[in-house]
Amino acid sequence: MWDVLTCDPSLEYSITGAPRVANGKVFIGNGISDYGARGYLSSYDLETGKMVWRFWTVPGDPKRGHENETMKMASKTWADGYAKNGGGSPWDAIVYDEKYNQVIFGTDSGIPYDPDVRSPGGGDNLFLNSIVAVDANTGRYKWHYQTVPNDAWDFNSANHIIQAELNIDGKQKDVLMQAPKNGFFYVIDRSNGRLLKADPYVNATWASRIDLKSGRPIENPAARYHKTKEGRSRVTPSLLGGHNWHPMSYSDKTGLVYIPAHEFSTTYRLNPDAQLGGALFDWYGNDLNAERDDLSKSATQIGRLIAWDPRRGKAAWTVDHELPMNGGVLSTAGNLVFQGTATGKLNALSADKGQLLWSFDLGSAVQAPPVTYMRDGVQYVLIPAGSGGIGRFMVPLYGTGKSAVGPDRLIAFSLNGRKELPKDVESDEIVPRPPFETEDKKLVEKGRELFEENACGLCHGSVAVGRRPVGSSVRDLRYMDAETHKNFYKIVLDGLYKALGMMPHKDILSLDQARAIHYFIVDSQWKLYNEKNK
Ligand code: HEC
Repeated sequence: MWDVLTCDPSLEYSITGAPRVANGKVFIGNGISDYGARGYLSSYDLETGKMVWRFWTVPGDPKRGHENETMKMASKTWADGYAKNGGGSPWDAIVYDEKYNQVIFGTDSGIPYDPDVRSPGGGDNLFLNSIVAVDANTGRYKWHYQTVPNDAWDFNSANHIIQAELNIDGKQKDVLMQAPKNGFFYVIDRSNGRLLKADPYVNATWASRIDLKSGRPIENPAARYHKTKEGRSRVTPSLLGGHNWHPMSYSDKTGLVYIPAHEFSTTYRLNPDAQLGGALFDWYGNDLNAERDDLSKSATQIGRLIAWDPRRGKAAWTVDHELPMNGGVLSTAGNLVFQGTATGKLNALSADKGQLLWSFDLGSAVQAPPVTYMRDGVQYVLIPAGSGGIGRFMVPLYGTGKSAVGPDRLIAFSLNGRKELPKDVESDEIVPRPPFETEDKKLVEKGRELFEENACGLCHGSVAVGRRPVGSSVRDLRYMDAETHKNFYKIVLDGLYKALGMMPHKDILSLDQARAIHYFIVDSQWKLYNEKNK
């Protein structure tokens, strides 16, 4: 019926969150903070698709004039008066608050992540890492609460928001709740944006507490790597947060919020050459190399389901998972909590006590939350299972073989369901014989390092080369055929497959480096080839 272009296609905008519909309008944000353009929330007329308003989340160049008084106010919190690299994209959390006719949304951080480069001389950098409320009709600013002033850790506040009525310290309040990446659980008064409660739901080393009066964190100075002598700090939660986008759930019945949480740390270190904002991130635990060689020893990564009591600011119960980065949560009126795990289970627990009541082996890792619905008097629980999303590329423990890498499926359950889950379809693809021998182990190692450094693994699979020849969106490079080997440099350096999403790398890789990577991939292909032809 209508379509509109909501982002400038010449910039690296993306849309990762669902649009929300309310009040006769469609609300939609965007993702851009990691790539350097200004975030904004747009509102379109439901019938015509005409834009009703747009709220910019960070101030643009004052030379071009600020869009409104709010941007003028925000500009005072930036060195040079504006966000040169943009940021603050509202990429997921958008809710409509009917009672106050406002739209409330959470924003991302901005680049460079090192705040001394992003905004030399300091400043809170509004509205990065913030929860913002605007009038639903006009998009005019009402209030904001910033979770991390002058962020240095990419602790964004774009995790989704739950509205509820809660009795806090003897008073009935209209609140919103959020568990952003920074490890603190926030309860905020929706009528004015005032902070009511903030307590750590996982170990948080960057701040000792949040001061309720000022609303500001009491920081641990050692966490600011950009101010330390060594230019590095180890910080918990990690860059992936104490809780990421995986939806949490609130039950009116128990008064508890169920958080799909995880706990591990990241070493942040300054590096002026790093592409994303002058800082690099190490995921792999205290000793990078030791843990890369034996990932099973990386016991510092914890996955957890937390039943959080927002009134008391404490967990009512917790259940530990084998891996971090598990699925979103569904809680039901029947005192149940459903969650899928990275190890490929769908669990049902009692909502009040966290007792495991039922568990089903899906065979594939879960990131998404289950949903429930009724049809012809039968209640269904529906879950998409895949292979672990970004977890399998960025969480080293996934590489130990514990994560379930089965087929991508949508699976429905009901009490009278009788069907067997069909078996995984085995790939019958043959591993082609690699084109040359790879005796030079030093070159293999060099190629492996370059493969990791240049983030080939982000798409093709990191710890091993690729994971699944079928069912995965990008090819396992160990299945390259003779033709592909012949075209290797054209593909990797010159962009032969650019139209398929494989970008040219000639600006960042020399021919020799590409050769080393090719050598490493061929070595991996030999391993698989020999295994299959034993
Ligand atoms: C942003 C994601 C991404 C990154 C990063 C990436 N690739 Fe690719 N690559 C793709 C896509 C998409 C394709 C084409 C689709 C396909 O063949 O599955 C592809 C195809 C290839 C192919 C052809 C494979 C075949 O069997 O047809 C090779 C070889 C390759 N990439 C090597 C590399 C190397 C080496 C790196 C690192 C320098 C790299 N890629 C980084 C996404 C990526």
